Amino acid sequence: MRKDFSDMAFYPQPVLVIGTYDENGIPNAMNVGWGGMCGGKYVNINISRRHKTTDNIFLKKAFTMSFADQAHLVEADYFGLATGFDENKIEKAGFHARKSDFVDAPLFDELPLTLECQVVEMEEKRGLICIVAEVLNMSADESILGDDGLVDADKLHALSFDRARKLYRTLGGVVGKAYHDGQQLMK
Ligand SMILES: Cc1cc2nc3c(=O)[nH]c(=O)nc-3n(C[C@H](O)[C@H](O)[C@H](O)COP(=O)(O)O)c2cc1C
Repeated sequence: MRKDFSDMAFYPQPVLVIGTYDENGIPNAMNVGWGGMCGGKYVNINISRRHKTTDNIFLKKAFTMSFADQAHLVEADYFGLATGFDENKIEKAGFHARKSDFVDAPLFDELPLTLECQVVEMEEKRGLICIVAEVLNMSADESILGDDGLVDADKLHALSFDRARKLYRTLGGVVGKAYHDGQQLMK
């Protein structure tokens, strides 16, 4: 037996922290679940018109996309509750912002993995501003790199958003090899 739902849940859904600057150079951060990759070089986010972040992206045509980690769960959730229109969220969260060398948007010292993104498309669709951006750089703190020099997801402890239950989860360990384990059915 299967059960049908009218409200969608999507697994695993990322917890993205979108970093932007406003017209006075004040950094801001917002929590975004509706985002992902569009091919190997681009990312997309889908955000409401009413956010401070949206205004900032219209202004600067740039943002950073960091992956919320378990160590900063409280701050990441706060970035999704409060608005930069009312308060300096970065100061209140105790985060430290520095300007990206690649785009006009802030990196946060506290979040170890960040994509630096230049907007290439912004369009209002289905009640949201759908933004596609080119990733000009990926910046990773050494603390999350493996011996092979690549990002080690086990060290990142990235959060995933369980929309159905309104929970944050972490992902489990390695269980298979991509482009490989399916080969046994190709014989
Ligand atoms: C887990 C979570 C996921 C969210 N995902 C989105 C999203 O994908 N799109 C969106 O427009 N708002 C989303 N929000 C709401 C914004 O993060 C929230 O309204 C925030 O206060 C906007 O901040 P700003 O006004 O400083 O930009 C999410 C909030 C949470 C807690």
